[in-house]
Amino acid sequence: MAENTAAHDLEVELGRLLDQERFPPPEAFAAAARVSGSELHDAPGEDVPAWWLAQSKEILDWAKEPTRAVDESSKPFYQWFADGELNVSHNCLDRHVIAGNGERVAFHWRGEEGEERDVTYAELLADTQRMANALKARGITAGDVVGIFLPMIPEAVVAMLACARIGAPHNVVFGGFSPASVRERMEFSDAKALITVDGARRKGKTAPIKQALDAALDAEPLPALGTILVVRHTGDEAPMREGRDLWADEAMAAAGAECPAEPLPAEQPLFILYSSGSTAKPKGILHTSAGYLTQVAWTFREVFDLEVESDVYFCTADIGWVTGHSYMVYGPLANGATSVMYEGAPDYPHKGIWWELCERYGVTLFYTAPTAIRACMKWGPEHPRSFDLSRLRLLGTVGEPINPKAWLWYHKVIGGERCPIVDTWWQTETGAIMVTTLPGAQDAKPGAAGTPLPGIAVAVVDQEGEACAAGTQGLLAITQPWPSMLRNLYRDPDRYEQTYWSKFGPDAYFVGDAAREDEEGYFSVVGRVDDVINVSGHRLSTAEVESAIVSHPKVAEAAVIGQADEDTGQAIAAFVTLEGDMDGTDELIAELREHVAQHIGKLARPKRIIWSDDLPKTRSGKIMRRLLRDVAEGRALGDVTTLRDPEVMARLEAQIKSGAVPAED
Ligand code: WTA
Repeated sequence: MAENTAAHDLEVELGRLLDQERFPPPEAFAAAARVSGSELHDAPGEDVPAWWLAQSKEILDWAKEPTRAVDESSKPFYQWFADGELNVSHNCLDRHVIAGNGERVAFHWRGEEGEERDVTYAELLADTQRMANALKARGITAGDVVGIFLPMIPEAVVAMLACARIGAPHNVVFGGFSPASVRERMEFSDAKALITVDGARRKGKTAPIKQALDAALDAEPLPALGTILVVRHTGDEAPMREGRDLWADEAMAAAGAECPAEPLPAEQPLFILYSSGSTAKPKGILHTSAGYLTQVAWTFREVFDLEVESDVYFCTADIGWVTGHSYMVYGPLANGATSVMYEGAPDYPHKGIWWELCERYGVTLFYTAPTAIRACMKWGPEHPRSFDLSRLRLLGTVGEPINPKAWLWYHKVIGGERCPIVDTWWQTETGAIMVTTLPGAQDAKPGAAGTPLPGIAVAVVDQEGEACAAGTQGLLAITQPWPSMLRNLYRDPDRYEQTYWSKFGPDAYFVGDAAREDEEGYFSVVGRVDDVINVSGHRLSTAEVESAIVSHPKVAEAAVIGQADEDTGQAIAAFVTLEGDMDGTDELIAELREHVAQHIGKLARPKRIIWSDDLPKTRSGKIMRRLLRDVAEGRALGDVTTLRDPEVMARLEAQIKSGAVPAED
């Protein structure tokens, strides 16, 4: 009863706050701000690249300082700080140890079953050197791609930094992807080595990862993949192939303790991260070293208002996504920050685990995604309220538009109305945060990410690239190169030019998001304009899911759409036509979902499968996804006369009303 009253009071309070359009920085916060917002926003002045060059010299430790900022001579293949040299792992590790901070904790790691491990900068450096030497001993040198398929354990960070140390670009695959996806990504990137684990834990169970990977690799071997390093974690049985597989701990023990951080070119590839685009084949987004590190380090310091001596930072992202790369590994470590790393799911062993960790480690800066906030809202405020969150002083969000209600809940229940919220807009391609509010200096407006950061130029334009008036929805474009921009798509420069630089030409980057800018220059991002679906902040392409479904022998054709979803932002709905006159059954739904899980990963399983004898197609045979979205979301159907078979929509509508089957999780 008391709980009900409390819940009711919270609703009323949130309802009252819904009318409040802006939230100024909390006073204590504003007073402590290093510089005023306008001072910082005006700082770059006319020569923006020169300002970035100065920032990069200030924030990074260079072996050879660059003399040039951006090189546009082969645009859109931009280069940054190209005549400089540095080592990314030196900047994340050695320099902090040299400065006397080797005993500082880099990560408070918490395992799923409650294990705790504090990893200091000195320990991270020692392990990184050994892992780098173990890779070298297997013949890995600068430029060789190394795959990483690891759960949220400190070894994942060690693996990334070991690659960075020797200039071998890493290709991390999110733990939720299937072995078949891992194999495919190793193939696309021509990986020479893979660092993985015996098994992974998930909510009290373990899964034998190495065994499953072997099955995928046996089915279609990859001759280039000459080494698999296996981290011992769960004790799951891991078959080891002579000549190819090594236990990581044994290889590291056998390797030398010292691996000097050699200076590498500023444009040395640092990593590839595969991300969904509008075709079935994922794009290998390529980032390089110095420009990337400059902007992630700078944004981490300024956007999170970092006080390195006293702050404890907790980012809930997985290392397999760009947020994990930029704001769990490179940004925090380049700044010498202390972070929390949690192995488990947000609701295991209980729904308050994140808040327990905040209390336990005195977290001050917390960064998560709207989908997680919505889940927490659903679980109820009693979970965060059972822990002491008073050390929190700043909250962040990323991954999708946050609805004002979730923003307010975050502000009130987690932030206790004291913490500014930074809603950070960026992408895998941008590498680092581009649009947000500087927490001590700018008002936040729920629903709007904020203004472009200093040194960043963003615009809302129409189809022709002309600026839209304030308040008008259009396409988001980035109108100046920025240091952490992607440099290419791995081994696919044509697709790079086509995807990002053909719509508006080589001077303006096509983002793929729809947005509005208000009178004060705040940007609200509405969503994607391409065939990319954002499920719980995870990017998936309709084409990728369609091709997985169609590869099932009983399927003749499939069309996949993103459907608005209260929990996950968007959910996947698949319209499926079966071969011959087969009928759709519940068993077949389960079979198709499992089939997609095998091909891509569980995260790509359709939430709904709708059987359809035919799909709405134009006379030229193009599937009209807009109509499918309308019918799936129960909207009135517009003009259907351009369809080859105008009757098809009526049949689909009837089919949906008669009970399309929402799938179980
Ligand atoms: C969306 C994640 C609104 C957007 C870092 C973008 C957002 C895509 C926000 C990139 C935000 C990300 N507000 N939408 N604060 N942040 N997005 O590559 O559609 O996984 O294009 O990078 O997520 O997703 P990605």
